[in-house]
Amino acid sequence: MQSGGQGQEEVWREMTCSGNFAGYRVHYEQSVDSTNTLALALCDAAAGQKIMVVAESQTQGRGRLGRIWLSPPGTGLYLSLVVYPKLSPADFPKITLAAGLALCLALEQVGQVTPRLKWPNDLLVGGRKCGGILTETTPFRPGAATAVVVGIGLNVNTPAQAFPPELAGKVTSLLHETGRRYDRGALLLAIIGSLEGQLAILEEGGFAKILGQWRERDAYRDQAVSWVTERGQVVRGISLGPDASGMLQVRDGQGNIHTVISGDISLAAS
Ligand code: BTN
Repeated sequence: MQSGGQGQEEVWREMTCSGNFAGYRVHYEQSVDSTNTLALALCDAAAGQKIMVVAESQTQGRGRLGRIWLSPPGTGLYLSLVVYPKLSPADFPKITLAAGLALCLALEQVGQVTPRLKWPNDLLVGGRKCGGILTETTPFRPGAATAVVVGIGLNVNTPAQAFPPELAGKVTSLLHETGRRYDRGALLLAIIGSLEGQLAILEEGGFAKILGQWRERDAYRDQAVSWVTERGQVVRGISLGPDASGMLQVRDGQGNIHTVISGDISLAAS
């Protein structure tokens, strides 16, 4: 898809020639194990500098809960941003929700799709997973700003046959959903701008605003869901969406409210 602004070639040239882009020092790789792993390794020497790691492919792209993020070359966006949010570590889980909303807003603006969000970090298009966020931090050090790595994976021009058969019906790409090819440079620009905007809102104490927009895009709101607790118990209930601290609230059949801190939720079989 063409855009009126900077296109892929210009964006890629700016990133690779100058080594700087939109206030970030850029590490551009043809292939890397994981952009998040590289970004975490770069944090120590970064000395507070914002860093962006972008790769054309990943050999060990990582998702939450030890999952793999399939990263075929030249088709998707695989990037990790190292930022230093002025937030208390207790608020760091909110960054994943802010990043998910940022990704949605960017795609609505330049992708002409209407993505939905699945708590805490999945972006769905047409009901299938099209993008994901993996937020990781460096160890806490008293007095030093904690670096936060926001890893974003987005299936852009990925053909359906690039996904293994067992993922058929579960994952998708913008190309597959719309039949159109997208300019990854325009998407990258929009995503970074959008993320910066949402992080600024978060730092200003505006999580309620982020939450309001997140909930409007919540794919599972008021749906019957199930999840497995840390003790291996399967709980079913109605998803009420994330609460004011970003944790998911689920109401079970007895009316008890459960707070889901981690783990994965699925739509319950009806
Ligand atoms: C998930 O679905 O659980 C999150 C997926 C996040 C994938 C991105 S791709 C760029 C960055 N590098 C990684 O290894 N993971 C994230």
